[in-house]
Parts: sequence; C-alpha cells; structure tokens
Amino acid sequence: MNVRIAQNSGFCFGVKRAINLAMKAAKDDENIATLGPIIHNPQMVDKLVKQGIRSVEDLEAVKDKVVIIRSHGIEKEKKEQVLQDSKALIDATCPYVSKTQQYGAQLYAEGYKVIIYGDERHPEVVALKSYVPDDAALVVSCVEDLQGKTFRKVGVISQTTRKLSGLQAVVKVLLKISNEVRVINTICNATSVRQHSTAKLAEASDIMIVIGGKNSSNTKMLAKICSEKIKTFHIETSEEVCKEWFDQIEENIGITAGASTPDWIIVDVYNKILEYIGKGEDQIEDFSQIPVFKEDE
Ligand code: F3S
Repeated sequence: MNVRIAQNSGFCFGVKRAINLAMKAAKDDENIATLGPIIHNPQMVDKLVKQGIRSVEDLEAVKDKVVIIRSHGIEKEKKEQVLQDSKALIDATCPYVSKTQQYGAQLYAEGYKVIIYGDERHPEVVALKSYVPDDAALVVSCVEDLQGKTFRKVGVISQTTRKLSGLQAVVKVLLKISNEVRVINTICNATSVRQHSTAKLAEASDIMIVIGGKNSSNTKMLAKICSEKIKTFHIETSEEVCKEWFDQIEENIGITAGASTPDWIIVDVYNKILEYIGKGEDQIEDFSQIPVFKEDE
C-alpha cells in the first residue's frame, strides 16, 4: 500500500521562514513576542509558547522585548513604533509581501492612483495600504467596487493570496474607465500550486487525508477539492485518524496539508496511518522522509 503526500503540502516559503526566524530568536533570547499570532494553528502556537514566544496584540506590550513581525507584515507606522520601543525587531515579513509594499510606495511616487486588489480587513492589505502615502490607496475586492469611478493613471497591485482570475477581472474594468493602467502582478502562486498538486494526488488515490485547522480557509478548500474526487477526511491532528478508514483501501492513500500546518503534525499523521495499515516498522522521524507524489508518476 502506498502512502504519499502531495507536493507543496504544508507551510509556504514565507511562513516557514517566519517560524524559523522565531525559533532561532527564541534560542538567543528569552523575552520574545510576535505582534499578532505568527500563524493560525493552535498546536503550533502552543509549541511556540513553550519555547517562550508569545503573541501580543498591543504595541504597549512590546517594550523591552524582541519583537517578530509575522509573514504578512504590519503597518509602516506600527513598525516604526516597534523599532523605537522594543529591544530588537526581527522582520519576518515574507519577502514577496515586502516587495508588494515597495511597489505600492513606488507607484504612488510615480503619480499613479494605487489600487490594491484584496480584502480590506486582511492584515496583509491593512499593512500594504499604509505603505502608500497620504492614505491614497483604494482597496478593491471585486469589480462592483469600481462602479461609477473613472481614473487618469492607475497602478494596480494585489494581495499575494488572491486569485489571478479576480485580478484579471478588475484590470479589465479598469482598462475601460482609465486613461492609463499599470499592473504589477504581486500574486504569489504558493496557494494555487498546492491546490493543483493536491487535486492530482486525489485523482491517483483511494482516500485523501487533509490535515489543517478546521477553521483554516485554505485547508477547507483543499478538503473540498479532494472530496469532489474521492473519499476525504479533514483532520487537525493524528488523534483523529481512524483505523476503519483504511479497511477497504487496497492501494493508494493520499495526504495533503494546508499552509499553516506544521511538518511535525504531518509526520505524526503519516506514522499513525502506517501503524493502522500494518507498516508500523516503516515509521519516520522527519518530514522529508514522506514519499512525495509527483504529477508525472
Ligand atoms: Fe506564503 Fe509569502 Fe506566498 S507568506 S503565500 S510565500 S507571499
């Protein structure tokens, strides 16, 4: 029986980098805080707390601490404040997000009306907006938000996790209502690549186990994609895995995980599955040992 994981499962590059920076900081210092939870995964947050890394919401609470900025960044003014008040600042903003912030400032400096395609309430967009001076950026979440508007020069950037089709729809409308449209595609493809690999593995499996927070929207999307193809179970930890799920399975078990699922939870689940299918002696210690399903297999 094969147990395989979809390519690109689990943490994306930016989240992995942020967690590694936080863990490294915790080795060198005791008084560490992240401004807002570094990741939306309760098991990972518990683990970080055990290592002395706490999440604080309030700028007041950063005094004399080493402060880690999470992967989707924070507002420019807040960052300046943290730099002033904290013991040290470790900027774990994903480099793709930082680049988008720079584009926002640059477009404004070049005289463009900056349009951010994204969700106004998302922390990444809240931060991004602050990099466009004079509160001049307009956040657009769908084409309806452009109704009745006209522009001379617009510069468009996007929240990194949005879909390309949505950005294309917004740009199409902008072309009709503006004299000049400049688009910088700042969408990161980590999410769509993960979804694609997951769909391919689901097509080659008899059952799919999707690991990640029950409230994580990207994990729920993976579970939806799989359940449209094959019997699927969405779990948060290895404790939820049931032996009976594998009774009728003859050949292929597939695993995938959302962007906020840590490697060690995936390893736990993999080992539990091996135990239940009678291959307990093959259990592993490291994520890299899990066989990966490649599309051309
Ligand atoms: Fe992750 Fe950075 Fe992309 S945080 S989703 S790699 S923009």
